[in-house]
Formats: sequence, C-alpha cells, structure tokens
Amino acid sequence: MKSQIWQTKHWIRLLAPVLISSSIFLAGCESETGGSAQGEGQALQAPPAGQGDQKEVVKDGQAVDPVMAKRNENALQATVQEVDGHSVVTNPEAMTVIVNKQRRLPEGYEPKDLVEPNVPFSFDGPHEKRMMRKEAAEALEKLFARAESEGIELRAVSGYRSYARQKVIYETNVRNRGEEEASRVSSAPGNSEHQTGLTIDVSSPSVGNALEESFGQTREGKWLAEHAPEYGFVIRYLEGAEDKTGYIYEPWHIRYFGTDLAPGLAASALTVEEYFDESNIKL
Ligand code: DAL
Ligand code: ZN
Repeated sequence: MKSQIWQTKHWIRLLAPVLISSSIFLAGCESETGGSAQGEGQALQAPPAGQGDQKEVVKDGQAVDPVMAKRNENALQATVQEVDGHSVVTNPEAMTVIVNKQRRLPEGYEPKDLVEPNVPFSFDGPHEKRMMRKEAAEALEKLFARAESEGIELRAVSGYRSYARQKVIYETNVRNRGEEEASRVSSAPGNSEHQTGLTIDVSSPSVGNALEESFGQTREGKWLAEHAPEYGFVIRYLEGAEDKTGYIYEPWHIRYFGTDLAPGLAASALTVEEYFDESNIKL
C-alpha cells in the first residue's frame, strides 16, 4: 500500500504541472465548463496523451499494450460495473468510494453505521442530515475540536442524504433553475456522495452559515481547506474544475477519504477523479 502510494505520488509530482496548467486554461474558457462530457453512464476517459510512451509491459510472458495495462489496473475502472446501462460502483462501503455524474451508488444503498457527530450544527432538531458514517463522524469531531481550540467557529450544515431526500432536492432545483443549471450544483439521486455518509457541508456564522462561494474566502473557509486533510477530509469540488468534477466550486463540501489518502490528495491540487484515474491505489 505504502509503495503504491509512493509510486502514485511520484507520478503525480511529475504530471501535476501539466494537469494544473491545462486546468487553468480550461477554467478560463467558458464553453468548456459544465460541458457534455459529463453524460450519464459515459465511459471513463482514456488516459491523457503521453501515457502511451511507457516502457513495454510484460504479463505472464506476453507483451501487453501499456495503455490497456494501465487502464486495467486503474483504480476507477476497477470499482465500477455496468448495470442496466449505468456505471454502478462496486465498493459503496469503502471509505474511498468515488461517486460522481458517471458513477452511481447501487439501487437502495444505505450506509449501515450512521451516527450523529457531536459538533455544533447550523439548525436545531433531529434530521437525517445530522448523520455521517461512524469513522467520518469521529474524524469530524476531531476536526471541529481543533477548529474551536484555534478560535475558528464552524457549523455542520448537511451530512447524510438518503436517495429519497436527494431526489426531492434535485427535483426542486430542476424546477427552480432548469436541468442544466441544477446539475451544476446538485447531484441526481443515486449520484451524490452525500448518500455515502462520508460527506458533509460545513459553514460558519461569519457568513450566516450559508453554503456559498464566499465561505471559501473567510478565515474559517481558509482554515477548513488547510486543516481538513489532516483529519481525512478534502474539499471535493475544487475552484476552476467544473469541467472535471461536473460541479461548481463548493468550498463548504468536504469528503472523507481517511488520513492515509487525504493529505496527498489535497497537496496534489488535483481533483479526486484526476488523482485516482491513473493511480493503482486500491479504492
Ligand atoms: N452539491 C453536491 C454536488 C451534491 O448534490 O451532491
Ligand atoms: Zn454538499
């Protein structure tokens, strides 16, 4: 595991400047944002140009196309299967499960170990959105305790969402904004990482606990981006990466990956999809 991570980090260090500069270019190019590449059930992208320049790969005494070999061991490809024309994740219980517009959770998926983290929320009263999976909830408690000890006031706003609730939220957004705009900010039911119980939206009283881009510029938002990885969380939808993640910048939306992976992932400045697309880290 350690050596796999080292190899991946090494590879990312080599390629990060290329990927980052291409993301700056795309971010400045309006027509590229929220584009049709995010189509439902679409196959994952081929490796970027240059991957084919690798050394010959030999498996069981046979020469293998190096690009295909890489794709076969790709962490994303290895954790998805086609069901009724949709790409469904095969590892919904993993702390590293990746769900997005192209990869949905199995029908009826509900996490089994939801608990309520002992942190301040932005609202009163019981609600399913107070819940997270146990490991993520415990990590969130540590993150919030550290914030409080440094005079940073955070509030938990929205954690777990059932399929049924995500459906209501998405359909309300579609009614209010139209499908194209709605899908830039809200996942279709089955395609939200909130349904994994590993995600939570966090804000601060300094912006009225709102989930808006300005949170990223606050002292609390900056603190969150800097310190969340130490506790296993990353900002899931990065600024200027809508063409890659399918969603606008969400500085409030943090996703638990565990303390093994989150620091390297955050330091790479890559999106989750980019980081794992070419890695052979086991998800
Ligand atoms: N706002 C994020 C993308 C979600 O709805 O899951
Ligand atoms: Zn969110």
